[in-house]
Amino acid sequence: MDNDNSDKELKYIVVCGGDGCSSFGGRVIRDQIENAIKDNGYEEQIEIKDSICNSLCFQGPIVKTGPKNRTYKDVTQDDIPTIINKTLED
Ligand code: FES
Repeated sequence: MDNDNSDKELKYIVVCGGDGCSSFGGRVIRDQIENAIKDNGYEEQIEIKDSICNSLCFQGPIVKTGPKNRTYKDVTQDDIPTIINKTLED
């Protein structure tokens, strides 16, 4: 029997909260992503989380998204719409 569980996969954006990424503006990026999610009414679709260091510190801020496990490096404010839209599409 086919178990057609149509529960949507949880989409999430994880911002590295380690010291390296934070020194490159990771916390500001996190706030900007959170605000963009709220401003666009995507709170029900995308969860924002924090992670510990991903060992990619010199390429930070690091942002990862799921469920497709994408990794974005050197994230700037200009990247945020793309990251959110891609996460919604995944
Ligand atoms: S602090 Fe973000 S990858 Fe190390």
